Amino acid sequence: MPTIVFVSPKGGAGKTTSSLILAEQLSRSADVTIIDADPNRPIESWAKGGAKPEHLHIIADADEENIIERIEDAAVRTPFVIVDLEGTASKIVLMAISQADLVIVPTQGSQLDAEQAGRAFRVIAQQEKMSRRKVPYSVLLTRTNSAIRTRTLAHIEKGLIAAGIPVFNTELNEREAFRAMFSFRQPLSGLSVSDVANLDKAVSNAEQFAQEVIATLRGAHQQSPEVLA
Ligand SMILES: Nc1ncnc2c1ncn2[C@@H]1O[C@H](COP(=O)(O)OP(=O)(O)O)[C@@H](O)[C@H]1O
Ligand SMILES: [Mg+2]
Repeated sequence: MPTIVFVSPKGGAGKTTSSLILAEQLSRSADVTIIDADPNRPIESWAKGGAKPEHLHIIADADEENIIERIEDAAVRTPFVIVDLEGTASKIVLMAISQADLVIVPTQGSQLDAEQAGRAFRVIAQQEKMSRRKVPYSVLLTRTNSAIRTRTLAHIEKGLIAAGIPVFNTELNEREAFRAMFSFRQPLSGLSVSDVANLDKAVSNAEQFAQEVIATLRGAHQQSPEVLA
């Protein structure tokens, strides 16, 4: 049912990584479809490693002609649909946002990244006008340092909050395990402590992120029942 769309203008912000982290966690207790709408098909390549969890389903033929149909079909078949997109400057992004119950904007903690994220907010606002419907969204700070909180990051977070932009409490830390998922083509649960450092910390970070997403979807549901009806 809920459709979660990852959007950010900047390549490397962590959209694909965060999509897969969330999808794996949700697929532990429900069926999840990831629509890999990035023309490079990173999630499809990942799945070719053969270690895709049973409850995770991947659709890799989405384009701007069929994205709405693909999302609608997936939403009928699986309780969660996650859409991984590339960039913001295309019709497919607007179309995917039009179907979203929650848009997640992954942003790395630099001023430049935060400014670029502004493009994503403008695209969301544009879609809200087109559809005359509020689109719940939230910034996800990604690749943050788990050991130190930089002043830049604190400043950026403060700026976002002051501008009324929702920010997840959970950040995704920079973790070797999150990179290793793609190099070994494994879900987090398929990685081994002998291959990656701090795997337990990555797992608890992933769990916390998924829990906050669920709580956010529930909150959005309460605020506007038509969104998750
Ligand atoms: N939380 C993270 N920890 C470590 N590496 C990360 C994390 N998020 C992303 N990366 C790395 O950063 C690069 C870009 O991430 P990716 O998810 O592909 O971004 P996008 O989909 O926005 O282009 C990849 O090499 C990925 O492995
Ligand atoms: Mg990507």
